[in-house]
Amino acid sequence: MSVLLEARGVRKNFRGDGNSVVPVLTDVNLTVEGGEAVAIVGASGAGKSTLLHLLGALDAPTGGDILLDGVSYATLTGDERDELRNRRVGFVFQFHHLLREFTALENVMMPLLIAGCPEGSARDRAARLLGAVDLGARATHRPPQLSGGEQQRCAVARAMVHTPSVLLADEPSGNLDAFHSDQLHDLLFALVRELETSLVLVTHNRPLAERADRVLQLDKGALLEIGREAVH
Ligand SMILES: Nc1ncnc2c1ncn2[C@@H]1O[C@H](COP(=O)(O)OP(=O)(O)O)[C@@H](O)[C@H]1O
Ligand SMILES: [Mg+2]
Repeated sequence: MSVLLEARGVRKNFRGDGNSVVPVLTDVNLTVEGGEAVAIVGASGAGKSTLLHLLGALDAPTGGDILLDGVSYATLTGDERDELRNRRVGFVFQFHHLLREFTALENVMMPLLIAGCPEGSARDRAARLLGAVDLGARATHRPPQLSGGEQQRCAVARAMVHTPSVLLADEPSGNLDAFHSDQLHDLLFALVRELETSLVLVTHNRPLAERADRVLQLDKGALLEIGREAVH
């Protein structure tokens, strides 16, 4: 395997009250191999979402470097960064962020249409992904007509429809009960393994973290590799 995604000495500061600086990430180093699944755990406020935003080029680090396939985000133009986000990265958040006025199928088609895929093939591909997350019978439903678990499964289909190189998932089951959380994880892991997509998964869910190839803890602004038995 070769390194797909890398963070080198990443720092991120936010502005606090007045002119104060809040250092959230102080020295994050991470390598994710192609097809590898990495789980990140850590206390609330540790900076997990901040790190995922940086890895997905949704935000820029204060210092250090993030690279995909050896190319530093800092060297990309705005357009190139948009292209990277649209083509190479998939996101799943705790809340689904589906567009409520569009059907499940249209929501899942969206990343392909944005990437310039013809409508017919976008529709076929989106239908296949909806089937893969067990929502084949719900294609024409809109998000408000879907349950919480179905909405998150639809969000996973949308995040994976363009076969991203890496899926960034931020507490994707944080809002679900145990049964639907298990169901979501089964589908999520099956899809990333089938499509050989790398996964960076932020979770409080211990059994889910343990399904990853490695578990890392974000603490005091840096990542530590931890033994699985130490996951809380
Ligand atoms: N845009 C922002 N501006 C200022 N502070 C922020 C911003 N985003 C996050 N923070 C702060 O950074 C810290 C880490 O937040 P976050 O990454 O959301 O943590 P986690 O996802 O681990 O709970 C928190 O103290 C939060 O208040
Ligand atoms: Mg968070």
